[in-house]
Amino acid sequence: MLGCISPYHCGMNLKNDLFLRALNGQPVERPPVWLMRQAGRILPQYRALRGSLSGFKELVTRPELAAEATLQPIDELGVDAAILFSDILVIPEAMGLDYEMVEQRGPFFPKKIRTLADVEALASGEVAAERLEYVYSALQLTKAELNGRVPLIGFSGAPWTLLAYMVEGGGSKTFSTAKKFLYTQPDAAHKLLSKITDTVIAYLRRKVAAGADAVQLFDSWAGVLSPALYRDFSLPYLSRICESLTDVPVIIFAKDGWFALAEIAYLKCRAVGLDWTIDPTLGRVWAGQHKVLQGNLDPCVLYADHATIRNKTLEMIKAFGKRHIANLGHGVYPDTPLDGVKCFVETVKEYRYKAP
Ligand code: CP3
Repeated sequence: MLGCISPYHCGMNLKNDLFLRALNGQPVERPPVWLMRQAGRILPQYRALRGSLSGFKELVTRPELAAEATLQPIDELGVDAAILFSDILVIPEAMGLDYEMVEQRGPFFPKKIRTLADVEALASGEVAAERLEYVYSALQLTKAELNGRVPLIGFSGAPWTLLAYMVEGGGSKTFSTAKKFLYTQPDAAHKLLSKITDTVIAYLRRKVAAGADAVQLFDSWAGVLSPALYRDFSLPYLSRICESLTDVPVIIFAKDGWFALAEIAYLKCRAVGLDWTIDPTLGRVWAGQHKVLQGNLDPCVLYADHATIRNKTLEMIKAFGKRHIANLGHGVYPDTPLDGVKCFVETVKEYRYKAP
């Protein structure tokens, strides 16, 4: 079997191993389904838990609470995979750049990266990964509480996307400060990307050791780069991560990165996530026949009436055909009606591929 380090990682102890079978290219009766951002504000249970705490970071850093948030969508939605409740910003923090999660606004870094000296002052690799013990504990706890119901996905931000936050200092439409850093201080940018990559590799290896069955890399800000910048400042680092994680399947999701899809598909990843701007047929042509494709329903479809949700979901499943994991084209929006989310999940779960 592909990419197994133990029977556990092959899914042999799992009650529902559909997601891992799909990733391993084994026969499946229907596409597995999960949603990016399934653990979050769409769920009343999450809002209640979150409301009882001092803030987002308390939820991220207390393993028993992160485990609870991870399990909520498994109980409520019946999806085929769990994704550990955490955030991509734990990596910059472990490297020495604290973040705040500002209510209604998103992440904010009081200190930003501006110079080579700032980059050199950061911790990286094992030293930084060691500071994230709370994530590995949350993963172990979740794995135990899941008791083999579904596989557990671990994740990380991709190096470019993490650099974008560390230099920009928060969210942005253009990430022009981060792009300016690439154009004006390319050596410092490469040094930073290299340190982030070392940290991501150490971090994901520990997540796998703690029980993650697969990992996903989120390159959420791929779409602000040109093909040339992506080739210089993202792909080589994604490649290093893929080469270093051989024990579990790797999924790469580069939001708005259609222009780099063929090159991403060339990396040693098992699956490629697609956002909703990519036509499934074209996505298959660009990614080639061998990759598993994941996505890509427009999250806004879930605001529609149930007949529309069913039709659009079935349209997507049929357009992708086999070697597909059903998901949205990006994270589910927090104000999405829960019954719309359930309609999407149920539609996928009722579907069966026709016999070949
Ligand atoms: O269910 C899951 O997918 C697991 C949990 C998860 C979160 N963040 C929880 C979260 C995952 C996989 C992430 C990844 C993440 N975080 C990404 C990559 C995915 C993407 O959306 O492109 C990015 C860019 C971030 C950074 C981040 N975290 C932002 C920009 C924000 C603010 C925007 C928002 O949605 O509020 C967050 C906060 C965040 N991360 C929340 C959740 C549930 C909301 C915080 C809250 O409860 O107030």
